[in-house]
Amino acid sequence: MTQDDLTYFRSWFADYSRSYYSADKEDQKNILLKVEHTEHVCRNIVAIARGSSLSEDQVRLAEAVALFHDVGRFRQYMKYKTFRDAVSINHGLLGSKILIEENLLQRLPGDEQQLIIQAVKFHNAFAIPAMLPGDIILFLKLIRDADKVDIFRVFIKYYESPQEERASATAFSVPDTPEYSAVMISCIKNRKVASYANIRTENDFKLMKLSWVYDMHFNESVRLLVEGDYVNSIINKLPQTREICSAVTVLRDYVSERLKNEEQT
Ligand SMILES: [Fe+2]
Repeated sequence: MTQDDLTYFRSWFADYSRSYYSADKEDQKNILLKVEHTEHVCRNIVAIARGSSLSEDQVRLAEAVALFHDVGRFRQYMKYKTFRDAVSINHGLLGSKILIEENLLQRLPGDEQQLIIQAVKFHNAFAIPAMLPGDIILFLKLIRDADKVDIFRVFIKYYESPQEERASATAFSVPDTPEYSAVMISCIKNRKVASYANIRTENDFKLMKLSWVYDMHFNESVRLLVEGDYVNSIINKLPQTREICSAVTVLRDYVSERLKNEEQT
């Protein structure tokens, strides 16, 4: 992929996302949320790819994957007015179909087209499908990390904005009560990624986000989370009970270990 290809894709994405702009304030807020998210994910993926010593050609491919990873969000939102796949449509799969439908990647060699399509298709799968070829897995790891790093930013912004400025489709619509579930605490303590299925309250949701730290493939991604102060910000939004504090200690130790490993490499 050349720099010209990337420039072309950027301008296509700008036009495509603009075509979904809306006069309705709420819709526009939700659409812009995904435009901004895409910009951040592009920046994150370039930082992670460069920080992990990938070639400049791979960095460009990674950026194209980031640019298109949520291309399905716009149609998903317009049709269902939500970003929750469980109650609407799988936006990764939809995005891969849009890329094919639009004939957008034709200017690239076949293997690069496949790589982008597959990475978009599976970027939101609960786990990386083991049967995929190694080069696709590398780009899936990159996009999943870059995406998750920015989802931390999006949620912190959501929690810190006044009610009327919040992009409604970000919410998970669970009660904001002081409770949290034992299964979430045990995930954090056991260094396991928590599942959406166990979310009962907003605190569970925050704990689930924190558990994503354990799912980062690149040390550079953990470094970006620390640089943005994202881990601390979420921890500070939780009730500081004894249980939560001891779980969070495990998490903080994990972060230090990852960053120490980075220094050694
Ligand atoms: Fe996505």
